[in-house]
Amino acid sequence: MENKFKRTLVTTALPYANGPVHIGHLAGVYVPADIYARYLRLKGEEVLLIGGSDEHGVPITIKARKEGVSPQDIVDRYHKIIKESFEEFGISFDIYSRTSSKIHHEMASDFFRKLYDKGEFIEKVSQQYYDEEAQQFLADRYITGTCPHCHNERAYGDQCEACGTSLNATDLINPKSAISGSQPVLRDTKHWYLPLDKWEPFLREWILEGHKEWRSNVYGQCKSWIDMGLQPRAVSRDLDWGVPVPVEGADGKVLYVWFDAPIGYISNTKELLPDSWEKWWKDPETKMLHFIGKDNIVFHCIVFPAMLKAEGSYNLPENVPANEFLNLEGDKISTSRNWAVWLHEYLREFPGKQDVLRYVLTANAPETKDNDFTWRDFQARNNNELVAILGNFVNRSLVLTHKYFGGKVPAAGELNDYDRATLAEFTNVKATVESYLDNYRFRDAQREAMNLARIGNKYLADTEPWKLAKTDMERVATILNLALQISANLAIAFEPFLPFSAAKLRHMLNMSECRWEQLGSSTLLAEGTELAATELLFEKIEDATIDAQIQKLQDTKRANELNEHKANPIRENIEFDDFMKLDIRVGKVLECTKVPKADKLLQFRIDDGLGGRTIVSGIAKHYNPEDLVGKNVCFVANLAPRKLRGIESQGMILSAEDADGRLVVITPADEVKPGSEVK
Ligand code: 2FM
Ligand code: ZN
Repeated sequence: MENKFKRTLVTTALPYANGPVHIGHLAGVYVPADIYARYLRLKGEEVLLIGGSDEHGVPITIKARKEGVSPQDIVDRYHKIIKESFEEFGISFDIYSRTSSKIHHEMASDFFRKLYDKGEFIEKVSQQYYDEEAQQFLADRYITGTCPHCHNERAYGDQCEACGTSLNATDLINPKSAISGSQPVLRDTKHWYLPLDKWEPFLREWILEGHKEWRSNVYGQCKSWIDMGLQPRAVSRDLDWGVPVPVEGADGKVLYVWFDAPIGYISNTKELLPDSWEKWWKDPETKMLHFIGKDNIVFHCIVFPAMLKAEGSYNLPENVPANEFLNLEGDKISTSRNWAVWLHEYLREFPGKQDVLRYVLTANAPETKDNDFTWRDFQARNNNELVAILGNFVNRSLVLTHKYFGGKVPAAGELNDYDRATLAEFTNVKATVESYLDNYRFRDAQREAMNLARIGNKYLADTEPWKLAKTDMERVATILNLALQISANLAIAFEPFLPFSAAKLRHMLNMSECRWEQLGSSTLLAEGTELAATELLFEKIEDATIDAQIQKLQDTKRANELNEHKANPIRENIEFDDFMKLDIRVGKVLECTKVPKADKLLQFRIDDGLGGRTIVSGIAKHYNPEDLVGKNVCFVANLAPRKLRGIESQGMILSAEDADGRLVVITPADEVKPGSEVK
C-alpha cells in the first residue's frame, strides 16, 4: 500500500515523576516505541520520538507533604532518575522533557484558553469535601471512611476494595481526610467540564468505523466506553500544584493532570523544534502514534482526541498500540509494595546488560494479554537464546575468520545449492520482520530476527568449516564469507531491538553503514574488509545471580507482610458490655451461590436454628460456593439487615484475613447445633 504519510511522530506516555521507573514501564511503552522509532530511522524516514515526565497530579503533592519538601523537589528528584534510566537503556528520545517547564505551562494554559474562548467547556458548581485543617479540597482517593455496603472501615472515596463497589466520596460513612485525619466538610466549588457527550458521534465514527485495525484490546475498550455513553469530564481541580486555570475567578484551581499531560507531547515537540513543531502536529501528512499502557487508553483514544478536535487545528492519532500489563513473578507490579524490578537498580546490578532486559521484555511483551516476568525466564532467554544462538553464531563466524584468514573477509567462491537455499531463507526474513514491525507486533518481529541467527547457526553446524580447513580452504572461504554476511545482516536486523549489541557487532565487522534496505543482501561486507578483535556479545548468567534476585523479591514480600500487620494495630479497648451487644451464632450453610455481576459476593442460605436466614458475604474470590455447603460457620446474628445488590443480608459471616488479603471463614472445631451462641 502506498504510504500516505511523510513523517511519523511517536509519543510515549509521560511517566509520573513520583517514583523511579520499572520493567513494566519499559515493556509496556518505551522499548516498543524505541524499536519502532529506530526501525523508521534505519529506513531513512523522518521520525520523532517524544517523551517526558508527567509532573503534576495529587500523588506528587501528597508525597511532598509526607516528606516535608516541595512538589518541585519531588519531581526534580525523580525526573532525573527516570531520564537517566531511559538514556541508559538506549531509549532514543529526540527529547525527554517535563511538564513543570515554562514552555509546557504556557502551551497547556493557551490550549485551555482557546477551548474556553470557543465555548467548548461547561461550567458546573458541585459540592466537594474540603479539609479545613489542611485548607484544601480533597481528591476522592484521599478520603477514607466506612463503606455503606459492606461496612469495611477502610474504604476509599472512589472505591471500596473489600466489596469492589465504586463509590462517591459523599457515600462514605464517617469520612476522614487522609491528609490531616480530620473530618472533611462539604463546600461548593466550580469546575470546567469537557462535554465528551458532544463528541460521542464523532468518536464513534472515527474509532469504531474508521479504525477497526486498532489492536483488539484498544478497540474493545473504546467501544465499551462509547457504548456506555460518554459524560462531561471535569478538566480542572482544586489544588495548588499544576498549571493554573487561566480564567478570572479560578484562584486555587489548576488544570486536571490528565488535561495537561498529553499537551506535554505538544510542548515537548515545540521545545525541541521551536520553528517547525507545527508540521509535526498539524500537517495531515504526519502520522501520529501514541505508545501507552492499557490504563491510559481512555485518555488517549477518547479524551485527548476530543480535546484536539475541540481545538480544531490538530491531527488525531493514526494508531494507539497500547500494551496490557506486565506482572512480576505472578503478582501485579506495585510501586507502593515495592514489587518491581527498578531500572536504576537493574543497571547497577547487571551493568552492561541493557540489551538482555530489552530482549526479554520484548520476547515476553504483553501485547495482547497480561504477561509475567520471571527471573528464571530471564536467565533462560539469555543463556539459551542470546548466548547460545545469536552470540554463538556471531562468535564462531568471527573467530574462524580470524583463525583462517587473518581477520579479513575471505572471498566467496562458487555457491552450491545449500548455500543458495540458506541465502533464500534469510532474504525472506526481511519481509517478515518488516511486516510485523509495520503492524506493531514487536515480539513476533524480534523472534523472526532471532530466526536469522538460527539459520546462521544451522548453516555453520551443517557445513562444518573447521573440518574442511585441512582439505578445502576455498570452500571454507565461501562458507565464512556467507556466515559473515549473515552476521552483518544480524547487525542491521537487531539494531532496533538490541542497539548496544548491534553497535558492537557493527564495530567488530567494521561496517561503515547500516540501513534497513540492505537487509537480505549477501554482499554487505566487501572481500578483504578487516575485522576488529572479537568480543563476546553476551555472557551466561549463573544460577547464583538469579537466586539473589529471587531472594530479594522474597525479602520484599516478607517486609510487606510485616508492614501490613503493623498497619492493623489492635483496636482500642472496649467494655465487656460492648462485647455482649454482639450476638454471634453458629449456622450451617444450606445453600451458597455467586451473586450475579458481583465478583466478590456470595449469597448464603443458613440454618440458624431459628427458621433460616440469608446472608451476603464478600468472600467469592476465596471460595467455590459448593465447597461451603454443609459447613458450620459463625455469623453476627443481630447486625441490622442491609441490602447488597438488591439482596437483603441478615447478618455477617465471620472470616479471618491474612496479610495477603486471603479470607478464611471461621468454623467451630467440632460439630455443634445451628443457633448455638459464640461467646
Ligand atoms: O499513567 C501515567 O503514568 C500517566 N502519567 C501517563 C500520562 S500520558 C500523557 F498523557 F502524558
Ligand atoms: Zn464495601
